[in-house]
Amino acid sequence: MSNPDELLRIEGIRKTFPGVVALDGVDFDLRRGEVHVLLGENGAGKSTLIKMLSGAYRPDGGRILAGGEEVRINSAQDSERLGIATIYQEFNLVPDLTVAENIFLGRQPRRLGMIDRKRMEADAARLLERVGVQVSPRARIRELGIARLQMIEIAKALSLDARVLIMDEPTAVLTSEEVEKLFSIVRTLREDGVGIVFITHHLEEIAALGDRVTVIRDGRSVGQVPASTPEDELVRLMVGRSIEQQYPRERPASGGALLTVEGLTRNGVFHDVSFEVRAGEVVGIAGLVGAGRTEVVRAVFGADPYDKGAVKVAGTEVRRHDVNAAMDAGIGLVPEDRKGQGLLLDASVEENLGLVTMRTATHGGLVDRRGQRADAAKVAEQLGVRMAGLGQHVRTLSGGNQQKVVIGKWLLANTKVLILDEPTRGIDVGAKVEIYQLINELTAAGAAVLMISSDLPEVLGMSDRVLVMAQGRIAGELTADEATQDSVMALAVSTPTTSVNEREATRGH
Ligand SMILES: Nc1ncnc2c1ncn2[C@@H]1O[C@H](COP(=O)(O)OP(=O)(O)OP(=O)(O)O)[C@@H](O)[C@H]1O
Ligand SMILES: [Mg+2]
Repeated sequence: MSNPDELLRIEGIRKTFPGVVALDGVDFDLRRGEVHVLLGENGAGKSTLIKMLSGAYRPDGGRILAGGEEVRINSAQDSERLGIATIYQEFNLVPDLTVAENIFLGRQPRRLGMIDRKRMEADAARLLERVGVQVSPRARIRELGIARLQMIEIAKALSLDARVLIMDEPTAVLTSEEVEKLFSIVRTLREDGVGIVFITHHLEEIAALGDRVTVIRDGRSVGQVPASTPEDELVRLMVGRSIEQQYPRERPASGGALLTVEGLTRNGVFHDVSFEVRAGEVVGIAGLVGAGRTEVVRAVFGADPYDKGAVKVAGTEVRRHDVNAAMDAGIGLVPEDRKGQGLLLDASVEENLGLVTMRTATHGGLVDRRGQRADAAKVAEQLGVRMAGLGQHVRTLSGGNQQKVVIGKWLLANTKVLILDEPTRGIDVGAKVEIYQLINELTAAGAAVLMISSDLPEVLGMSDRVLVMAQGRIAGELTADEATQDSVMALAVSTPTTSVNEREATRGH
């Protein structure tokens, strides 16, 4: 009965967590030499499904077959023995170990009973080269940025020579060049007969890379279609309705300058950055990775110091390098790394939503807990956070729902100047539109929004003005009408008049 090309088959799988039915009957199969995309909204059950294959969770019902035989996958070792390698949505690397140690964790090559470091590092270097990431095998994970961690996870998975490779949103944190590199690796693996399970919220990647698509909605598989299926049809299957307008930006008349940044300079990092964001405005910051966008907004938020310049809110200067002063002035930041900077993973949804408001509430000595809870419930509802209840720990929310909580805590705090650094990373297409609508509401109420995004259509679709950064400087500013893919890219790759390096050189040290 079984197809010789069939690597895995899942039949009617179920999984319940306290208060949540995560999977309620999912069917799925994977063949040799295919990229099978798992598509579904935030919280639909994609990550839970793959965790059944990786041995992280055990199903409550249903069957898993490998090569036609029913199997039980009770541990990571069972999964590995079946030739399955998994790259999780949350990285699984050990921060204090080196890159090479992480790649070969638990399987270090040995010589005369000792770990053969030389060989391990040489092998790691080869794998790193194969995925095209420039990093020393001896670098510690702790020191590396999030995009490189993703590529290291991929190198690690390759080292296992797996027959099945599972990738949970591998492209969420990658630049377009890195995505291309990843795609070419995946295509090579497919030619070698590896079966690949690929999860993504970027619909354009499906036709580019996929062969088949299984759509999951509310824990059930609702359809299996070819990857060439038009995007609007995929959306309809996934969210159960069609989306009329992907970027519903309404432009309220803008008011006076709410955020003013003057000549902001951090030696060697960014230079002479000046701009303003008016009440009611959405200003996008575009640029290549490394252009200094995140560094600038972190300085504006007081998370990092700067050497020269000023940050003002409604004309009043904000003390530099002081997050509390920035928050008191009404500035909020949704950081690009939500796990590291945005959330307390082992606290509840309610506690996380209240993180910003609680600090002001306790100023007066009084905390209105009931009011807090009502407000938290309202924001969670507005954002459509999928959860068992406000008491659920954030760690157990799905990736996209964690991101909604980070945004929610600033909504709750009536933030005047909201800075969003890659706000829709890992967010499904339907929820994106909801976030854009919230941005509309915020600006209609007079807030100023500053948005960094590597998703150029999003920047173009939602910004009233676009600043383009290159090499630590503002290379140019475009109105919504002037901003196009081409005009933004032209500025992003330009060399602004004086680059930071030249400036450093002329500073004479
Ligand atoms: N350990 C857990 N405890 C409680 N609930 C959980 C746990 N793991 C997952 N869930 C719940 O199961 C549901 C499915 O989550 P899952 O992470 O599989 O979604 P997803 O499809 O991967 O979403 P996303 O696109 O946001 O990553 C969610 O409601 C989530 O809160
Ligand atoms: Mg997930």
